[in-house]
Amino acid sequence: MKIAIYPGSFDPVTNGHVDVIDRAAKLFNKVIVAVIRNPEKRAQFSLTERVGMLKESLAHHKNVMVDSFDGLLVDYARKKKATTIIRGLRAVSDFDYEFQMALTNRKMAPKIETLFFMTDYKYSYLSSSFVKQIAKLGGDISSLVPKAVREKLKNRKVGG
Ligand code: PNS
Repeated sequence: MKIAIYPGSFDPVTNGHVDVIDRAAKLFNKVIVAVIRNPEKRAQFSLTERVGMLKESLAHHKNVMVDSFDGLLVDYARKKKATTIIRGLRAVSDFDYEFQMALTNRKMAPKIETLFFMTDYKYSYLSSSFVKQIAKLGGDISSLVPKAVREKLKNRKVGG
């Protein structure tokens, strides 16, 4: 049983995240999308909202589950018996942070591998922060996020 963890803030989930999950679900028996409870950057959406939007957007996958975690990611991964941490890479600018994080995690848990998915070119510019900014300024985000997020953002003025 090959289990992978896809961790993140998901504030909110974008089509870029969903694309990574769709591809990972084909390679692993089970993919656990793990939402960090208290991200370092203050989240716009509550944990319940972030988990809810993910669940709705991923309901079509039988082998994907959504969960939340706090503490060290590698401890959570060990608890879930995951062999792999999945991360998406968009541009060169992601690399430094991802490199540091992967090596730090490997130092703490040498048996857990980090696997990077190169973004689809369609989503290479896409980030949760820009989605929130565009929504706040009245722009069209319909092609950037799943339906559950579109609806949530429609009913709510983000970013105050
Ligand atoms: O979507 P994000 O904000 O880039 O996700 C970052 C996340 C949640 C994967 C990262 O902050 C994390 O793993 N935090 C848990 C604490 C931890 O394990 N830190 C040590 C590795 S850097």
